Amino acid sequence: TRRVTVRDLAAAKQRGDRWPMLTAYDALTAGVFDEAGIPVILVGDSAGNTHLGYENTVPVTMDEMAMMAGAVVRGTRRALVVADLPFGAYQASARQAFDNAVRLVKEAGVGAVKLEGGERVLPQVRLLVEAGIAVMGHLGLTPQSVHTLGGLRVQARDEAAAARLLRDAHALQEAGAFSVVLEAVPAELAAKVTAELSVPTIGIGAGPDCDAQVLVWPDMAGLTPGRTPKFVKKYADLRDVLGRAARAFADDVVAGSFPAAEHTYR
Ligand code: KIV
Ligand code: NA
Repeated sequence: TRRVTVRDLAAAKQRGDRWPMLTAYDALTAGVFDEAGIPVILVGDSAGNTHLGYENTVPVTMDEMAMMAGAVVRGTRRALVVADLPFGAYQASARQAFDNAVRLVKEAGVGAVKLEGGERVLPQVRLLVEAGIAVMGHLGLTPQSVHTLGGLRVQARDEAAAARLLRDAHALQEAGAFSVVLEAVPAELAAKVTAELSVPTIGIGAGPDCDAQVLVWPDMAGLTPGRTPKFVKKYADLRDVLGRAARAFADDVVAGSFPAAEHTYR
């Protein structure tokens, strides 16, 4: 078996084939998604919220990303593994982006990296691609900018912001990005970007016309506590299933009914 490549994704766009992407943060879960045939797995800095207990993605470090990305690569055989460059790991300069992307490629073994932003990260994208590192862009709602965005909400709703996003998408493609995530933007705008770009768009809260769709796995599996955004579809109720299992185990232990004879060495 060989891994999915950025060429496979370019070919899928040519054929008009849609594909799914899921996040994963550990070898165990990534292995499940790999076996399920998910072609692209994103080690997202959404791990800050989902797995590391931070309020947002801002505190996530390179050490944390490298550890999770390495685990996801080791837990998969077929998927293209893409890892986020976390906040503070690429904004300062192309050189900084290069050094940190190299870490994810060499140390963790990922096939591509993702970074947030348009215009302002073009030198970073150009240098990485020239150096042979595949880059995924990310426009619209860019959670690493939560403090300047003033909260996490739908982006590019007015004409000027929509035009800027469309320009940014073209600029990322020209700089060599192999795909672009569109997060929380109106469906009409995402459809226009998707029609104009020759590289695939990956939507999350960006309507049905993107080339691909991504969800954060604990959201789509129903493991995330509390409310999830409007764009999430829950495909399972893992929080309930796992909670029931934990309570059943606890009850058995308290009652003395676990371990039973079949779990016991004689
Ligand atoms: O970190 C993440 O999970 C992401 C996706 C939502 C695109 O960036
Ligand atoms: Na992210």
